[in-house]
Amino acid sequence: MSKVTIFGAGYVGVPTAAHFSRTHQITIYDPDEQKINNIREVLDGTTHELHIHEKGLPELLRENRENLKLTTDIKEALEDPEFIFISVGTPPNARGRANLKYVCKAAEQIAANLKNDAIILNKSTVPPGTAYMVQDIIASNLKTDFKFAVGSCPEFLAEGSAVEDLRTPDRIVYGCDDPEALRKITEFFSYLHGKATLCPMSTISSELTKYAANSILATKISFMNSMAVLCDSIGANIREIQEGIARDSRIGRKFLNASMGYGGSCFPKDTRAIAEYGRLNGVPLSLIKSTIAINEEIIEYFANKIQDDFNGDLKGKNIAIWGIGFKARTDDLRESKAVEVARFLMDHGTHAFIFDTVKGALTNFEIENQQYKGKFTICQDQYQMFDQDLDGLVIGNEHEKFRNPKMSQLKKMRALNIYDGKNILNNQLIRQLTQEGFNYKSVGKDTVVNGVDKDRLVHFLREKYMD
Ligand SMILES: NC(=O)c1ccc[n+]([C@@H]2O[C@H](COP(=O)([O-])OP(=O)(O)OC[C@H]3O[C@@H](n4cnc5c(N)ncnc54)[C@H](O)[C@@H]3O)[C@@H](O)[C@H]2O)c1
Repeated sequence: MSKVTIFGAGYVGVPTAAHFSRTHQITIYDPDEQKINNIREVLDGTTHELHIHEKGLPELLRENRENLKLTTDIKEALEDPEFIFISVGTPPNARGRANLKYVCKAAEQIAANLKNDAIILNKSTVPPGTAYMVQDIIASNLKTDFKFAVGSCPEFLAEGSAVEDLRTPDRIVYGCDDPEALRKITEFFSYLHGKATLCPMSTISSELTKYAANSILATKISFMNSMAVLCDSIGANIREIQEGIARDSRIGRKFLNASMGYGGSCFPKDTRAIAEYGRLNGVPLSLIKSTIAINEEIIEYFANKIQDDFNGDLKGKNIAIWGIGFKARTDDLRESKAVEVARFLMDHGTHAFIFDTVKGALTNFEIENQQYKGKFTICQDQYQMFDQDLDGLVIGNEHEKFRNPKMSQLKKMRALNIYDGKNILNNQLIRQLTQEGFNYKSVGKDTVVNGVDKDRLVHFLREKYMD
């Protein structure tokens, strides 16, 4: 059992602390009193609601409360940890560069308050080389002669499934250029997971692995989205193509869903950050730049489909949005495509009726969209808005509750329009909806409704492919 201090009680810090506390003694440090008090209340059972919504997290924290200490006092935080994990925010600036001020502040605090030898690992997503900067900051501010090493341990959890992702990771990537420290980190993770999943490497490779992983996943999505636009234009079905390529084990099944684009706190931020990092280092990273560009275009493509159905005039329309979090089961709205659609609609004079299965997502939407006050209604029930002369329903994330909507409720709509931003409705249901008079639009599956224009294709081939 090791003593560990975690800097940052956010989407990464709290689940990580809860997970580590299964076998290690953990102190969570965050200067934000509200967050620390909130976790305390969860531990003592006063509340079940954490400041972040994560399935199974309150239970796991409570289960291991004997191994958890919480503090807003930096001195207490650094009493005697063997390992320190930094998981503070690295929000992007206008050019996409990760802001390192919170990481640097944490490094200064460590230098000023460390009372024993320690290994410091950065979990925040940072530009490669940051660990060397943290090492410099600590070395030049350290009050006494403690031995310390700085490494990197990027986090790959996904919001909404953080507890499970941490419990059963595909691999644990970590890097440290100090061989003795690397051995100790290996020991630390072996204690939790056994050796099979461990992936030790150099510090800088570990930092870059995080960006490489998120960029390739985002690229898979953008690739499918560009194929989806081609599907709509020729009458193919992206779902069928997805199935066809997913069965190729070289490609794999995951991250092949076409949709109105990827959002969240990681993919958009990390792709922009690494593209900018490449540019600053004279390496263009053109593929990642295209991934970003496609993601920006696809949401416009989807929003334009809605607008076109109303002949460009969305004024006075009532449109419902099911799922406002950037994905199902999260309260996190950062870079949510559903929020982008909602704002697009409200900017064009539509009243938006917003529902999400996560209450925190609705609260966050209300807080973050004060400028649209009066232009939206928050709905606590999935079907409450169907008494409101709806002109359309947008499916904003992939929650299973949205996959089989109640037909009797849908039929109450004033205009029968369904916009499936996450392509979650199956072909059979789409055909049924079409028979019932619904207009169904998605990204790359319009053919289910429209079929293929064979004559046009034959004409096109005769004209362009016969030289
Ligand atoms: N959210 C994700 O799904 C996810 C996944 C993988 C990696 N990451 C990366 O992990 C990092 C943290 O992300 P997050 O989503 O948890 O951020 P977050 O904003 O939810 O939490 C960051 C926390 O750090 C605290 N903090 C700021 N300065 C501090 C300091 N000096 N000492 C201690 N705490 C301090 C803040 O009060 C806040 O509670 C980011 O670099 C992010 O890119 C996030």
